[in-house]
Amino acid sequence: MEKTVVLYEGKAKKAYGTSNPRVIWMEFKDTATAFDGVKKGSIQDKGRINAALSAHLFGVLERAGIPTHFIERADERSLLVRNLKMFPVEVVVRNAAAGSIEKRYGLEHGTRFRKPLLEYFLKNDSLHDPMLNRQHVVVLGYMPERKLARAEELALKVNTVLSRYMKRRGFFLVDFKLEFGEQSGRVYLGDEISPDTCRIWDAGTGEIMDKDRFRLDLGAVEEHYEEVLRRLTA
Ligand code: TMP
Ligand code: ASP
Repeated sequence: MEKTVVLYEGKAKKAYGTSNPRVIWMEFKDTATAFDGVKKGSIQDKGRINAALSAHLFGVLERAGIPTHFIERADERSLLVRNLKMFPVEVVVRNAAAGSIEKRYGLEHGTRFRKPLLEYFLKNDSLHDPMLNRQHVVVLGYMPERKLARAEELALKVNTVLSRYMKRRGFFLVDFKLEFGEQSGRVYLGDEISPDTCRIWDAGTGEIMDKDRFRLDLGAVEEHYEEVLRRLTA
């Protein structure tokens, strides 16, 4: 299958049409942004690494019974995926305190939560992705209640499957962000699963393996992304 016209371009990915209207070509870029697009840069080979890791982890999730948009790898940095109608909501799952929640509630870094915590944010750059509660999601019309309930169920299952998968490979999955969409009335997991969208710490040393290396200028970003890919696909 070949890519055709550009459908949209985001900060880390670019989507193209294909000859099949139900399929899109999702290309992963090396560019990286953080803090609402204020910090800009690029991470060498990130597109290839995130495409490979997303493809692999979507496969893991599919085998665990989670419907994802993934169809197949298209090239080194691209996937063929279902053309979903995306809900404008970012679903964040957290197992421990890091990032924005740490500052918002004054939590001690790394505190484990008694159970996984779900949060919702509106995907809207000009509004700076404001946090939503379940009522906002439903009453403001971002997702119908039944679809939200399904996305929540899938998000918690993704957490169970990925946390176990990563633990066996020596990582702690601290938190991650998911996006959902629908095709023919069915809810699918979309977007990507990569060190850009997850916080991953080495289980033994606590070393930061994800995009926080870019956000916080910790250095050796691509080496750590490569190490995550290597250990999770070995
Ligand atoms: P946060 O602590 O900044 O709210 O981020 C929570 C998780 O969501 C973390 O794993 C990083 C991921 N994330 C994204 O994938 N995209 C985003 O735009 C933001 C803000 C976070
Ligand atoms: N990618 C987002 C941005 O550009 C946020 C982040 O991942 O930190 O702001």
